[in-house]
Amino acid sequence: MTNHQYVTLPPAQPLPEGVQILPETASHAEVIEALNAFSFGPGRFAKSAYKLRRNNPPVLAYNRVCMLNGRLIGAVCFSRIRIGPAPALLLGPLAVHPDFKNKGIGLALMRDGMAAAKAAGETLVVLVGDAPYYARAGFLPVPRGQMVMPGPVDYGRLLACEFVAGSLEQAHGPMRPDPRDS
Ligand SMILES: CC(C)(COP(=O)(O)OP(=O)(O)OC[C@H]1O[C@@H](n2cnc3c(N)ncnc32)[C@H](O)[C@@H]1OP(=O)(O)O)[C@@H](O)C(=O)NCCC(=O)NCCS
Repeated sequence: MTNHQYVTLPPAQPLPEGVQILPETASHAEVIEALNAFSFGPGRFAKSAYKLRRNNPPVLAYNRVCMLNGRLIGAVCFSRIRIGPAPALLLGPLAVHPDFKNKGIGLALMRDGMAAAKAAGETLVVLVGDAPYYARAGFLPVPRGQMVMPGPVDYGRLLACEFVAGSLEQAHGPMRPDPRDS
């Protein structure tokens, strides 16, 4: 087992009353897009991670939404990519409405989506994000030079979490979208 391997996370903090984590359905797409626009602004389209998501439908089976009284207050998305020849999932965007920050929702969304991905036989998840936050979900920095994003990125923010020991080691080279059975 390497340091990057996903292990069962410690119990999540109890979510606020009435908050539910559910699989995303097609009907959520518009509201999720609005939440992402609000959270990340138009600059999100210029990010290298976005290039991996363009024309690459998300994997609805792993995507999760957070609902409270019929309102969508958070969402996490996964897309299929290849890193060299190796299959992987790209996690993101992850967004929680600011009115509901620091209630464990971001971590609960990731935990649920990643558990579904692991159970379905996925092997590796990568993302670009703040290492101190994502370390809480089992992500660690990718060794420098191992992966190449399709555009500029701060490689110190490129993080990985493996479900199967050795899957990170096999993921070397350029990253590209891998739209399939999403
Ligand atoms: C980042 C984000 C997803 C966190 O969601 P959340 O539901 O508020 O987070 P959680 O409740 O699961 O976790 C909160 C904890 O993580 C910490 N945390 C949150 N963002 C952090 C960050 N960027 N770096 C380090 N720690 C962070 C909080 O301080 C809090 O710590 P505590 O438990 O010690 O009080 C949410 O704030 C958000 O949507 N932000 C705008 C979009 C964004 O930046 N997305 C992530 C892209 S990298």
